[in-house]
Amino acid sequence: MFLHFLVLGAFVLHSECYFSEEIYPEESQIQPPTVVIAILARNTAHSLPYYLGALERLNYPKDRITLWAATDHNVDNTTAILKEWLTVMQQFYHYVEWRPMEQPTSYAGEMGPKHWPNSRYEYVMKLKQSALDFARKRWADYILYTDTDNILTNPETLNLLIAENKSAIAPMLDSQGAYSNYWCGITPQGYYRRTAEYFPTRHRHRLGCYPVPMIHSTFLLDLRKEGMKNLAFFPPHEDYSWPYDDIIVFAFSCRAAEVQMYLINKERYGYVNVPPKPQHTLEDDRLNFVHVHLESMIFGPPMQHSKYIHMFQKQRDLMGFDEIYLINLRRRDDRRDRMLFSLNELEIDVKVVDAVDGNALNSSDIKILGVDLLPGYYDPFSGRTLTKGEVGCFLSHFFIWKEIVELQMDKALVLEDDVRFQANFKRRALRLMEEVEQEDLNWDIIYFGRKQVNPGKEKPVENVHNLVMADYSYWTLSYAISLQGAQKTAQR
Ligand SMILES: *[C@@H]1O[C@H](CO)[C@@H](O)[C@H](O)[C@H]1NC(C)=O
Ligand SMILES: *[C@@H]1O[C@H](CO)[C@@H](O)[C@H](O)[C@H]1NC(C)=O
Ligand SMILES: *[C@@H]1O[C@H](CO)[C@@H](O)[C@H](O)[C@H]1NC(C)=O
Repeated sequence: MFLHFLVLGAFVLHSECYFSEEIYPEESQIQPPTVVIAILARNTAHSLPYYLGALERLNYPKDRITLWAATDHNVDNTTAILKEWLTVMQQFYHYVEWRPMEQPTSYAGEMGPKHWPNSRYEYVMKLKQSALDFARKRWADYILYTDTDNILTNPETLNLLIAENKSAIAPMLDSQGAYSNYWCGITPQGYYRRTAEYFPTRHRHRLGCYPVPMIHSTFLLDLRKEGMKNLAFFPPHEDYSWPYDDIIVFAFSCRAAEVQMYLINKERYGYVNVPPKPQHTLEDDRLNFVHVHLESMIFGPPMQHSKYIHMFQKQRDLMGFDEIYLINLRRRDDRRDRMLFSLNELEIDVKVVDAVDGNALNSSDIKILGVDLLPGYYDPFSGRTLTKGEVGCFLSHFFIWKEIVELQMDKALVLEDDVRFQANFKRRALRLMEEVEQEDLNWDIIYFGRKQVNPGKEKPVENVHNLVMADYSYWTLSYAISLQGAQKTAQR
């Protein structure tokens, strides 16, 4: 009896607690909005590992993201790379919609992988529309379109776009030039118009969130907003008479639906590859991408490829030289990394030589090395004699010349570590050296990069493109040197 009572008492007490005590006084948090990311990939095997690496690092819960990925008309390895990545990543994302198409590999009337006939514009419009329909059916809050050569290196990009609370918004993307993913003006016929705002925005002299008539390539649409119901990528609006181009069709659709497009440039968000010309090859496109990649190494944040994609080793060579030297000051490993990356991408092999650190030299060192400054030498720009840094720089080159003579090399190429390669550097250098060979030129040094001391007419070398007899020049950024050139310069 007693026992029974106790148990009952305990029960009553317990149930009182249960009804009166708030165990979880805080309401649980609202989950972040749901996002569909639309990936339309074609012939971008070179940028995809970096593109996907950046998506992977976006600071946003993956279980609130659905990936919608389509790929088609490829001549390169795009499908395999995307598939490899999605296969690993699908477990982390809410859902993956995968729409690969292996055949055909080109569009009707297409003259190359970077040419856009109307059939291609139409196909892309339809794809973007399918992604939009998909996101609407799933009641996604947002859809993010981002081209596969746009690398969102800033992991906060998606959050920063959402925070602006706009219907249609793009992050300003950087490139190696003036190009970006927005227009500040549009002509009455729907063509690009450059206005006074473009450069101040592009160069970040003004920072903010601005209404613009065109955003493309990477942009976020807020599907919860009323006006979004009427947007379409395809078919074009019934009043449409502007050029048949997916980005212009969509900008027109936004206008017709009274949806304002916005651009933010408050931070760096990522990079866009300059679109290749219609006649360009995939290799031209890849080289453009190398340049934009370098841009990201200089200004940051740098691009990083996905670790879930296999990266192949490049086949490097010496471009017909006996040696290619890269002079690098040991403490400038940022420059060394950048140069080694560029050279690897250009498939150029190189020997890194430690530069002589001029600041560590004293006058007796210089004497022991047996180097004398030319009597009466003065700097043509500043009018002063050499600094220690310049002596160090000279010595670095000097030791290379000696090595060329010692090893009886036919010719070598010397690069300093702050070189920036022009587009098609390798192809142009190879052609130049070939023509020099054909002409049987008797040469000592060929500057690949320099500063002219007395700008003026220099005599062109016959039958060799882009080569002149150099007047007195300055800087030793990059040059080819022959054995006889090295014998002369290494003499003392
Ligand atoms: C294409 O990519 C896949 C996945 O990364 C890789 O396994 C394959 O070797 C690649 N093929 C070529 C020809 O690069
Ligand atoms: C976002 O914009 C909508 C109008 O489109 C407005 O009603 C809403 O209050 C805004 N939200 C915030 C958090 O500012
Ligand atoms: C110059 O530096 C060397 C070490 O690098 C040292 O042995 C030498 O004594 C120095 N000479 C003078 C004049 O400071």
